[in-house]
Amino acid sequence: MNPVYEKLERSYESFRRKVSFEPKAAIVLGSGLGNYADHIRVVQELDYHEIEGFPVSTVPGHAGKFIFGYVQDVPVVCMKGRVHYYEGYPVSDVVLPVRLMKLMGAQILFLTNASGGINPAFHAGDFMLIKDHISLFAPNPLIGPNIEELGVRFPDMSHVYDPALQQILKDAAAECGIALQEGVYAQLTGPSFESPAEIRMLHTLGADAVGMSTVVEAIAANHMGMRICGISCVSNLAAGMTDHPLTHEEVQEAANVAAPKFTKLVSTAVGKFGQLL
Ligand code: HPA
Repeated sequence: MNPVYEKLERSYESFRRKVSFEPKAAIVLGSGLGNYADHIRVVQELDYHEIEGFPVSTVPGHAGKFIFGYVQDVPVVCMKGRVHYYEGYPVSDVVLPVRLMKLMGAQILFLTNASGGINPAFHAGDFMLIKDHISLFAPNPLIGPNIEELGVRFPDMSHVYDPALQQILKDAAAECGIALQEGVYAQLTGPSFESPAEIRMLHTLGADAVGMSTVVEAIAANHMGMRICGISCVSNLAAGMTDHPLTHEEVQEAANVAAPKFTKLVSTAVGKFGQLL
C-alpha cells in the first residue's frame, strides 16, 4: 500500500480509538487566531501528540490540538494550531491533518491564516476572502504515487474555493458589518519573511496577500473533493511596503486585535454552512 496512505490510516485508527464525534465541517485556525476555539460549544478535545503519526507544531502561538463541538448546530472539528512546511516536515505530513479531518467526516474545510498584504488597497487588520491561490516553492502535496482512495491523479483546480461558500462568507461579513476584501493568496515556504523584491514579483504575478500556509492544504483537500473556503487576516503590509521590519510578534498582535471581528465572522459563516450540509 502507498506509505502516505498507510500512515493516514494508522493516524485515523488511532484517532477513532479516542474520539467518536463526527464533524461535518473543519476549521483551521491561523497564526494568532487560535482563540476562536473558545467560542465553540466544546464536546471533546484531543492533543495532536495523542494521535499516532501526527506531526506536532513547534511554532509559538500554534498550540496543537483538535477541538470538537458545535458552532450553532453545525458539528465541527477545529484545528488549534497547524503544521507548516518550514518546520521541516515532508509536505505529505503537512497535509495529513486535513486528510484526517476528511476521514473524520468533514465535507467543508474553512481555512484561515494571517498574511502580509500586497494589494496596495489593503490595510493591516483587513480580512480577505480567498478567491484563488498561487503555489510557489512548497512542493505539491500530491507528488508521489496517487492515493486512489482519496482522489484522482490530475485534479481540476478551476474552483478550489467553493462559490457557494464564498457567497456565505460575503453574506456573513455583510450581516456582521465587517468589510471583506477579496483576492489571491500566495504561499511561499517561509520561515523568513519575503524580501521587497519578492513582494514586487508576487504583485506582478497577481497575488494580493502572502503567507506560509493554506495552499498545500487546499490542494490536498480539493483532491479529496472537499468544499473549501478561506479567509486571510492581513496582519501587516508585506515587506518593502512600510519602512519597519516584520516580526512574528507583530503578526500575532494584529491577529489578537482582529480576533473579536474574526470570531463574529467565522461563527456567523459556519452557522450558515448548515444550508449546504
Ligand atoms: N509574509 C508571509 N507570511 C506572513 C506575513 C508576511 O508578511 N504576515 C503574516 N504571515
